[in-house]
Amino acid sequence: MKVLIAFYSMYGHIYKMAQAVAEGVRQVDGAEAVLKRVPETLPPEVLEKMGAVEAQKSMSQVPICAVQDLADADAVIFGTPTRFGNMCGQMRQFLDATGQLWAKSALVGKVGSVFASSNTQHGGQESTILSFHITLLHQGFIIVGLPYAFQGQMRMDEITGGSPYGASTIAGGSGERMPSENELEAARYQGRHVATIASKLVA
Ligand SMILES: Cc1cc2nc3c(=O)[nH]c(=O)nc-3n(C[C@H](O)[C@H](O)[C@H](O)COP(=O)(O)O)c2cc1C
Repeated sequence: MKVLIAFYSMYGHIYKMAQAVAEGVRQVDGAEAVLKRVPETLPPEVLEKMGAVEAQKSMSQVPICAVQDLADADAVIFGTPTRFGNMCGQMRQFLDATGQLWAKSALVGKVGSVFASSNTQHGGQESTILSFHITLLHQGFIIVGLPYAFQGQMRMDEITGGSPYGASTIAGGSGERMPSENELEAARYQGRHVATIASKLVA
């Protein structure tokens, strides 16, 4: 049973969350976690101006995701940073290339799930995940979120990402904050939860 974690990360926050999602997937017997990055769409000079070069280098060993990888997986967990309350353009462009899979109903009945990141606490994590779900529903995915059984999303003693829609992290005004232990635990929970449900569907 293969769970693909397809993500885009400019500064490494979503990458860190993706690694935690993969840890959670691997906690389920018989589940394989495959981490892939969706293709970059920005030219190198723009990435340099955005201060993303070092972070991009740290992810360079992660293979690039192809559209067919979605069809080859039993479940897909998508990770995206927020862009004005929506998924990032790189992810949008990747998904807009999946029309051939839609035409063949190739993703119908697979488990789909989303996690996100934003700079600010109320800067669009929930809208990013929920608006992402629209595309997943068009493709026939069975959507899985982050149930309140993960009680870390209810804590009030620290600022934290995470909602019933999916794990998330708050990167801070200038991206200075990396995912907290609570946010990583949410990501692990989501990975484990998706893999557990997908295993039952595959069986
Ligand atoms: C064009 C653009 C739009 C953004 N829009 C938002 C936003 O609406 N709300 C917010 O809190 N952060 C916003 N951000 C910050 C990113 O979400 C943040 O850099 C990202 O979550 C960090 O994750 P990453 O390191 O994995 O790329 C935006 C960043 C860019 C470049």
